[in-house]
Amino acid sequence: MIEGVWRSLCGAEGQYRSGEAIAKAAGRSRVAVWKAIQALERLGYRIDARAGRGYRLLAAPNRPLPWEIHAALPRRLQARRIEFAEELASTQDAATALAERGAAEGTVVVAERQRRGRGRLGRAWSSPAGGLWLSVILRPRVPPPQLLPLQLAAALAVVQALRLQLDVDAWIKWPNDVYVGQRKVCGILVEAALELDRVRHAIVGIGVNVNFSHTALPPEVRTTTTTLRDELQREIPLAPLAAAILQQLERWYRGLGGPRHSAVLRAIRQHSGLLGQRVRVVQAGASFEAEAVDVDPLGHLVVAQADGSRRTVSTGEVSLQR
Ligand code: BTN
Repeated sequence: MIEGVWRSLCGAEGQYRSGEAIAKAAGRSRVAVWKAIQALERLGYRIDARAGRGYRLLAAPNRPLPWEIHAALPRRLQARRIEFAEELASTQDAATALAERGAAEGTVVVAERQRRGRGRLGRAWSSPAGGLWLSVILRPRVPPPQLLPLQLAAALAVVQALRLQLDVDAWIKWPNDVYVGQRKVCGILVEAALELDRVRHAIVGIGVNVNFSHTALPPEVRTTTTTLRDELQREIPLAPLAAAILQQLERWYRGLGGPRHSAVLRAIRQHSGLLGQRVRVVQAGASFEAEAVDVDPLGHLVVAQADGSRRTVSTGEVSLQR
């Protein structure tokens, strides 16, 4: 109902629309319209109500609300289910619960804050208000080893969305981060429910630091992290950014495992800031230095050691050496 009334107000393009006309367009009673108007105001919309003229939309809040995201998506993606919450423990948990109950592929869970956001390797992921914290349910028809390319495709989607939407020069830091300059702006976490040789569902968690200062983050990550507001010195509209990321994720995800797989890999390589650089690889407590030279078709990082030998890195932490 809220979405229908919101649509009707937007369709009026800044003009007044009577309660009766909105009720008719939404197929609901005038009382229901009035309640929806109040709900929109509680969400932060500014709406002018004039006796005899009706309602007029004055301003919208900068929040990743489902109908705002839908409106910024191409038509073919507008049917997807988007669940919004002001606060969740983790969007990963909410999306997993939905996936277990059979939610359709493409279903999205987005929250404005997370109490227990989580990152890779069991780390906590700080998720204050102003960030974009979302999880997407996918049901990839690939064997489990193909999940690493999915993680990279998600990072590629964020890189492309930041470039196209905000003209931000971002890059993929293998295997799951997006950086701007030398600082991390986004992390990706793919959690999958596996069966013997197939993936029942994969939850792609995307956390982008958007409209807050990096000083709001815990001291241990503050010096290596940035936010889009810090980079661009302005407030970023969240719903269009979410839509751009979802659109790009759809584009690159659909390419995996099919005839376009190598094109996806090419794009990943092209935006991988590590390639051609000296890196330190930390694996199972041991570490070594090498030059990152390639990302193979399974998404593994290929590095060349000083003696010319090549090693394939499939897990662990990789940092740039300078
Ligand atoms: C990492 O860099 O270690 C991955 C961070 C992933 C964070 C996102 S925010 C949305 C989703 N919900 C979570 O709890 N984690 C992911």
